[in-house]
Amino acid sequence: MLKTHSCGELRLEHVGETVTLAGWVNRRRDMGGVVFIDLRDRDGKTQVVVNSGRTAEGFAVAEQIRSEYVVQVTGEVGRRPSGQENENLATGAIELLADSVVVLNPAKTPPFLIDRDEVVDESLRLKYRYLDLRRERMQRNLVIRHKAIKFIRDFLDRRGFLEVETPILFKSTPEGARDYLVPSRVHPGQFYALPQSPQQLKQLLMVAGYERYFQIARCFRDEDLRADRQPEFTQLDMEMSFVERDDILNLIEDLMVGMVKHASLVPLAYEQFPRLSYADVVNRYGTDRPDLRFGLELVDISEIVGSSSFRVFAQNVAAGNPVKAICVPGCGSYSRKQLSDLENIAREAGAKGLAWLAIHPETEEVRGPIAKFFTVEQLIAITEKMEAGPGDLILISSDKKAVVHEVLHTMRTEMANRLGLTDTNTLAFAWVVDFPLFEEEMEEGHYAPSHHMFTAPKREHIPLLDSDPGQVLSEQYDLVCNGFEVAGGSIRIHERPLQRKIMELIGFSIEEAKEQFGHMLEAFEYGAPPHGGIAPGIDRLVALMAGEPNIREVMAFPKTAQATDLMASAPSPVVQRQLDELHITLAIKEKEKKA
Ligand code: AMO
Ligand code: AMP
Repeated sequence: MLKTHSCGELRLEHVGETVTLAGWVNRRRDMGGVVFIDLRDRDGKTQVVVNSGRTAEGFAVAEQIRSEYVVQVTGEVGRRPSGQENENLATGAIELLADSVVVLNPAKTPPFLIDRDEVVDESLRLKYRYLDLRRERMQRNLVIRHKAIKFIRDFLDRRGFLEVETPILFKSTPEGARDYLVPSRVHPGQFYALPQSPQQLKQLLMVAGYERYFQIARCFRDEDLRADRQPEFTQLDMEMSFVERDDILNLIEDLMVGMVKHASLVPLAYEQFPRLSYADVVNRYGTDRPDLRFGLELVDISEIVGSSSFRVFAQNVAAGNPVKAICVPGCGSYSRKQLSDLENIAREAGAKGLAWLAIHPETEEVRGPIAKFFTVEQLIAITEKMEAGPGDLILISSDKKAVVHEVLHTMRTEMANRLGLTDTNTLAFAWVVDFPLFEEEMEEGHYAPSHHMFTAPKREHIPLLDSDPGQVLSEQYDLVCNGFEVAGGSIRIHERPLQRKIMELIGFSIEEAKEQFGHMLEAFEYGAPPHGGIAPGIDRLVALMAGEPNIREVMAFPKTAQATDLMASAPSPVVQRQLDELHITLAIKEKEKKA
């Protein structure tokens, strides 16, 4: 080793020892005759003192070095003079009195400061990711990630799980996103697909009798990217045989509580995760991934306003659509301008308008452009139902149910942010259960699975598959935290006839089903055990535990929102020979290629 200790290791007990450290120059201060160097490695920082009186040669070197030079220093550990100790530094009681300083490699001036937590343009950070990763924030995040994954592996090992790797070159897995395809050289015109998740393979491992499987699995999805989505991401992929829903929920709850306590900077709001039905959360929060750190719940006021003389509401209620509202405390004195800003946000979320009623802080008079359409009794009924008090603001939306929910979910989040209700120092987990088996919207005349096609319907709902498939509830469960979906899973179908039936309902002919999923259907005929599983998203969980706003901050080499790698410039064109080998002719023109 080129060093005897790390830069975070030395303490008073080492005073008097001769040691060698190596690392990066974090900062250098020239005090005339003495140069101070903060030497940094992954483990921490140590103050090095290069005194011309102690080493003229070393001093000459130290005068030349700059930030981010890689240097090796040998010297004696000394106690810092009284009053010079630094309590904020683990090594703050000592300093290294240099006897020799060697430059292992010089460095150009970095495009941003490494030793300060200042805001740097993200594209610059991604282009120079290897420098960005030197910064404290990224190191802290990758350590949290490591600790979380280590905890998961140890936890599951103790509970009898086996880690099994599954292929990356596989066949298209239907999970709702677009596949990344890999052309085959050996089989012209044929393609592998990168797995959107190891869903089929883990189920086949259950058929194979492995009973408790997990994998820290890389998944690939070609979808539109957001703060919480990347084209490749990591799941804790799991599957178990002979289990019921609550076995999985209880296990994951234990795992999450343990992992957060072990690795998270942000503590849990509570340790018993509430289990809420899909119907309940959608009604109360307008979304199936509710943020439970705050209230501002949606309240249905259709019954009160359906008979009012405000035409929009009366007509909507008559047509079977809801009128729902949230009560925002203390915003009753919002100005016209502020209210029209809110209305614009609602419109962006799909609303035709956003009605409001404000309650005067003293007179308790209810004002708002639509107030005149209601009787005094109706206004009282609304404020009572909303539990609105003096100074509060009621925001009302009326439209098709899905629009109302989207709009009020957006407003709820917006107002919580404005009021500072989204406590960043707490993790509020909850289970969402009893999802519908199929999406409400049909796709090309067929049902679309709301999770994936391997999810089992509730036993007692199987007869409904013939009469009213839209009403069937499933054995799907999601884990949500602070408004993010952090895990999804289900008890699976393990009988061939039922799986065939679901495939039929979502529009696969017998031939198509056999061609694409023949291996699954066949496997189910060889004694498939009842089984179920789940896949927590590691990136989202680590981002929440690190208090980071997006998952790029917890990935070593993430891609941009345009799915590019700015450091290596990927994707990139390839030479003609490679295309020829893969039997590929590009359908785009030279110009488009460059653009
Ligand atoms: P699902 O598609 O719900 O389920 O994914 C599980 C979890 O993976 C995370 N996730 C993502 N994270 C980052 N970027 C993405 N693009 C992305 N997409 C999903 C989320 C999500 O909750 N095979 C099933 C699991 C199962 O049924 O066992 C599956 O993949 O946190
Ligand atoms: P109008 O009668 O169109 O001037 O609308 C009166 C108020 O009702 C305005 O504040 C509108 O934004 C609001 N509004 C109109 N349509 C809706 C709707 N579908 N849901 C909620 N508020 C609405």
